[in-house]
Amino acid sequence: MNLLILATLFSMVLAEKSPRLKFTVTESPRFRFMKPENYTTVYHLQETDVLYVGGQGVIYKLTFSDKGVHDTQIHAVMDENAKETCVSKSPAWKQECANFITVIERVGDSFVVCGTRAGAPKCWLLVNDSVLTDMPEETAASNILAPFPFQRSISLSADGNLYSALSAVAGHTGSIRRTYGSKKQLKTENKWLQNPQFAGAAVIPHTEKLKDEIYFFFSEVNSTASLDEEPYRARIGRVCMVDEGGLQNVLPNSWTTFLKARVMCGKAGTPVQYNNFKQAFVLSSHQRTGLIYGIFSNVWNTTVVCAYSIEDIDQAFSTSKLKGYNSPLSIPRPGTAKLCCAFRNNTQAHTQKILTVIKDHPEIEDMIIPVDEAPLDLPVQDHFTHIVADTVLAVNDEHYSIIYLGTGTVNCRELGIYVVFRMPHAGHYVWSPRSQTCQFDPYSEVYAPKARSTIPKQVLVDKDGPVLLPCPVRSYHATYRWEKDNCIKQYPCTISGSSCVLAPTPDLPLKEGVFRCMVEESGLQQEVVSYKLVFNSGPLSTSLASTLGSTLLLAATAHWLL
Ligand SMILES: *[C@@H]1O[C@H](CO)[C@@H](O)[C@H](O)[C@H]1NC(C)=O
Ligand SMILES: *[C@@H]1O[C@H](CO)[C@@H](O)[C@H](O)[C@H]1NC(C)=O
Ligand SMILES: *[C@@H]1O[C@H](CO)[C@@H](O)[C@H](O)[C@H]1NC(C)=O
Ligand SMILES: *[C@@H]1O[C@H](CO)[C@@H](O)[C@H](O)[C@H]1NC(C)=O
Ligand SMILES: *[C@@H]1O[C@H](CO)[C@@H](O)[C@H](O)[C@H]1NC(C)=O
Repeated sequence: MNLLILATLFSMVLAEKSPRLKFTVTESPRFRFMKPENYTTVYHLQETDVLYVGGQGVIYKLTFSDKGVHDTQIHAVMDENAKETCVSKSPAWKQECANFITVIERVGDSFVVCGTRAGAPKCWLLVNDSVLTDMPEETAASNILAPFPFQRSISLSADGNLYSALSAVAGHTGSIRRTYGSKKQLKTENKWLQNPQFAGAAVIPHTEKLKDEIYFFFSEVNSTASLDEEPYRARIGRVCMVDEGGLQNVLPNSWTTFLKARVMCGKAGTPVQYNNFKQAFVLSSHQRTGLIYGIFSNVWNTTVVCAYSIEDIDQAFSTSKLKGYNSPLSIPRPGTAKLCCAFRNNTQAHTQKILTVIKDHPEIEDMIIPVDEAPLDLPVQDHFTHIVADTVLAVNDEHYSIIYLGTGTVNCRELGIYVVFRMPHAGHYVWSPRSQTCQFDPYSEVYAPKARSTIPKQVLVDKDGPVLLPCPVRSYHATYRWEKDNCIKQYPCTISGSSCVLAPTPDLPLKEGVFRCMVEESGLQQEVVSYKLVFNSGPLSTSLASTLGSTLLLAATAHWLL
């Protein structure tokens, strides 16, 4: 019996002893595999509760609902001869001589599924969620996935096309390609990548659709580096999605927009650098803005997380010199979004010249430096293996970035979860399941956050009637207080359940005005909520107004207590 459990990361139970931050705890439906699955590939069908999971010789279609998980299995078996051939050719990997489904992608209207098929990869189209049919002839499975499941390949579906990044493995140089779909199939030139090991890929949209790009995150390995030299270099590479390849004599089947940059992850001014890019996640809020989070490791196998601004990266690509090229660049120059759709317009001779430059100079000189010029301040004793991030709107109307970090082995068996909250313009909270603590990162004090104000909700109350103004309590380590009319008067905040209420006393009678609930912790001050209190005047409308007022307050409290 296998104990592998698939659960959504977002429902991890975080309420342990005396937490600093409060979470709503919900137990989500779980699915338990009936046989061991050492390698799994997950594909989430967007905006549905359906998850496709690739396993050994099978695709699980899991439908999550309140009642539980409904599963159907689509089998992708292979003949015994293929297995025997594989075992005799690669005896060391005989466990891996099976059909591991490592690619599941919806590409336009079709569903592409690929399996390692005992070292001889093959792709199928999944039809009606039940039948695997052959792919069109021109699709080469060996360009889409690696022959064995432990060799990392990245698949990305965008705009009806499949993009594939294959890490270098024995006998294969590694590549970035467009492998299936309506557009021309393209590849990287071998000399552009040096033993790439891929960590992720993402579409970075542009305000103009023709300038959309795909970013690839990887490390390169210098296999001839001496023992005391660091062999890894972390990279970001990118291509334009409209790229249709070059001319018949220069780059005919290759990208004409590929460029790569060196990515640094380490504290500025120190020699300690983390050069091995392990995993990436893009948190994009708008077009060409947002952050890229990456897990990096060093030669000692210590992992850290660095964040990069997409704007900074775009700026570096469009303004940097190309490595080893000192002449002025023609316009539109490589690295600018304009180049994406430029070639079709240019004369042959001009295009030829740019293409030759591109072919021989795939790297920019400028390096990509992390936000705050250092890795995020996280505990170093843990080995991070997974990262995802999300933006949430908190009850105080502020947007927070939440980073979920997985520690442990790939098959989730020992997956621990770290949660990091990054506040806008401030530091972050780190919750550690190991030490059962949550610490506020002191560097937030360096960036004195600007006092944020909320829009006061107007509350109409009876002058002498009872009034309770609630303020949600999210941290038991912070101090809460009420300020009236911009600090002229301070009222105490009495904690009651998960709310801090303003309760007037005979010394501090309630008056009309704006009340702001302020929270302060480690020098960071934030406004949580505000109310504009207005006394209802006319005797005739008294009862109606007070009814409305208390209904509104009750509704607000109920909302926070959920
Ligand atoms: C899964 O991996 C374990 C540990 O490497 C191995 O013992 C087991 O045989 C593998 N199972 C399958 C089905 O390959
Ligand atoms: C898929 O379903 C449709 C409608 O039920 C059917 O006509 C078609 O033959 C099915 N395709 C395959 C490959 O089974
Ligand atoms: C790889 O390392 C060797 C030895 O230091 C060096 O001579 C060579 O230039 C490096 N290659 C690259 C592409 O950096
Ligand atoms: C790095 O550490 C992790 C977890 O401690 C371990 O699983 C992995 O094998 C290590 N990798 C290397 C290259 O030592
Ligand atoms: C292509 O040429 C047309 C006509 O000369 C021009 O209007 C258009 O802006 C050009 N497009 C690009 C991307 O340069």
